[in-house]
Amino acid sequence: MRKNRPKPPRYIISTAEFSQCTRQTVKGLSSFFGKQELIPLPGGKVGIPSQLARMYLSLKEGVDYSFRVLAHINLKGGVGKTTSTISFATRAVQYGFKTCILDMDSQGSASLAFDMVPEDDDPIFCDVWQNPGEMLMGSLKMIQKNLYILPSSLDNGLLDISLINPASQKNAVRGVCDILRANGFNLVLIDCPPSLGTAVISAICAASVIVIPMCGDKFSFKGLKLTMNEIFSIYEAFKLEKPEIRILFTKFDKREKISKSALKQLSSEYEEYLLPVPIRTSTEFSKALENKGTVFAVLKNTKAKNDYDKYVRQILGLKGKKNGRKTSVKG
Ligand SMILES: Nc1ncnc2c1ncn2[C@@H]1O[C@H](COP(=O)(O)OP(=O)(O)OP(=O)(O)O)[C@@H](O)[C@H]1O
Ligand SMILES: [Mg+2]
Repeated sequence: MRKNRPKPPRYIISTAEFSQCTRQTVKGLSSFFGKQELIPLPGGKVGIPSQLARMYLSLKEGVDYSFRVLAHINLKGGVGKTTSTISFATRAVQYGFKTCILDMDSQGSASLAFDMVPEDDDPIFCDVWQNPGEMLMGSLKMIQKNLYILPSSLDNGLLDISLINPASQKNAVRGVCDILRANGFNLVLIDCPPSLGTAVISAICAASVIVIPMCGDKFSFKGLKLTMNEIFSIYEAFKLEKPEIRILFTKFDKREKISKSALKQLSSEYEEYLLPVPIRTSTEFSKALENKGTVFAVLKNTKAKNDYDKYVRQILGLKGKKNGRKTSVKG
């Protein structure tokens, strides 16, 4: 009788993919880990569990798993904040980062993307921030081992009233992140609403890295400028150390003149902030959402995966595939 194998985690990196980024052969990886430890995947592929990927990358590549908080922020809507948050999270867990998504947007798009919309009684950020030590860990929903989400719903819109006091703004998201850090998380990803309300101010105060996704239309430059100004003024008002700030160009289409000229403008006006690789436009993102997941749930290589992989590597300080350059943005 054939034994029923447990289902593999949805977000798992295959040895073939891992070998491309570690410059180790698939055979070498299999013997390093031992066949028993690896997980059979569809199509005769083999996957590396998150904790083993972490062991390898910290031991052999010196990857730093110290705690960091990354917020995707832009006043403008529809620029790819949620797509970047969920794609980043699902790649980071494949690279061994114990990751939590804080969905701060009352639209709850990140929660919906993982089919984790909270029930009426499920606590969300606005319920837990005053007492995260007692409430937070029981409120997280597990997407898979080492990947969690604090989901969001319309009630998080109340944060604009309940976070009225500046001390609360400074400490609400920080307090939640402190508890996650104490519980062994390496990475917190915050999906922010398209506003500069109090929830976003609180996220800015907690973040060690702020990434502003933006696309090429004319309004995006205005949104970018306002968002940057707000970040700087919050850092001044709260007397915080300046975080790492990066701009991620999304929905890039080299066939479109407007896309090319926007990238050129960004490269000249925001050179020190602009991440080197834009995220190209792709239908893979909407396909992934239909399947209640992200582009990293599929094993085959796609340009969507490739672009977000480069972004994740850059931020997390993993070596690049081609030139082995290490460009970390540490928290
Ligand atoms: N690179 C891309 N190529 C094609 N479609 C994309 C890309 N990035 C995001 N999208 C699509 O654009 C839409 C908006 O993206 P997303 O929800 O991530 O933006 P957002 O900034 O979080 O929006 P909001 O401000 O409303 O929260 C989604 O339908 C998403 O699938
Ligand atoms: Mg969103």
